[in-house]
Amino acid sequence: MNNLDVSSSTTPTDEKRWQSSAKNYGLIAIIFHWTIALLFIAQLALGYLMSGDDVDPALQFNLFQYHKSVGFVVLALAIPRVIWSVLSRKPHPPAGSGRAANIGARVTHALLLCLTVAVPLAGWAVASTSPLQIPRYVFDIVVVPGLPLEISDKSEALWTGVHETLAYLAAAIVLLHVAAALWHHFILKDRIFRRMTPSRPEKK
Ligand code: HEM
Ligand code: HEM
Repeated sequence: MNNLDVSSSTTPTDEKRWQSSAKNYGLIAIIFHWTIALLFIAQLALGYLMSGDDVDPALQFNLFQYHKSVGFVVLALAIPRVIWSVLSRKPHPPAGSGRAANIGARVTHALLLCLTVAVPLAGWAVASTSPLQIPRYVFDIVVVPGLPLEISDKSEALWTGVHETLAYLAAAIVLLHVAAALWHHFILKDRIFRRMTPSRPEKK
């Protein structure tokens, strides 16, 4: 009479809601995901806009300082996030999804994780190698030291190229990633999007 089979309704609420389970992302992964995603997308837009040729120089200087500050915040969040992601359990792929789609999702997630560290690191390298040597502030609170790299126009140009290439590569992968999330939510109507939100999972 009593339905004692709880295995199919096991959720992070039932177990440790902070950690991911076979079905859902835990709160730590969710908070990391949405904080970094919003800041990263804002940084892509800011980086693109501030690099325009017709931007007023005084405004451009301020935008550069904000871009560096937010970039350091992304780096400071992305490093523990990568460690958390590597050490923690991952939700299973949705039932019925093909092998190629599962591999595609895993590769995309791994690339995005790496790029959230590599893009700001390369930005830090640009700011460290610039002969102007403008102090690298995080919102006028902390001064971040330069990376031990050669300071020269040539070195700055090299790292600018690396930073731009990685940033626009990340932008392309983010577009694919968001399109896949929307596809799952609106076309396939599965739980892929909802399991990356704190909403209560279905109890069936
Ligand atoms: C989430 C991290 C970051 C993202 C997504 C990002 C993205 C971008 C993008 C899209 C551009 C425009 C490239 C172009 O079209 O010319 C840019 C430029 C730039 N970024 Fe970042 N960035 C990040 C972090 C950082 C950090 C941490 C620093 C330095 C501490 C930095 C320093 C710069 C500088 C100096 C430029 C201008 C390069 C130039 O054209 O001279 N960025 N960034
Ligand atoms: C509005 C934009 C975004 C949406 C709607 C979105 C949606 C999602 C969803 C639904 C998942 C879970 C996928 C699954 O369960 O298989 C996910 C995972 C993931 N997303 Fe996003 N995402 C967005 C932006 C971003 C951005 C900008 C990044 C990084 C630059 C990112 C990096 C990741 C990573 C690394 C994962 C794997 C889970 C983890 O390790 O935390 N996402 N995303």
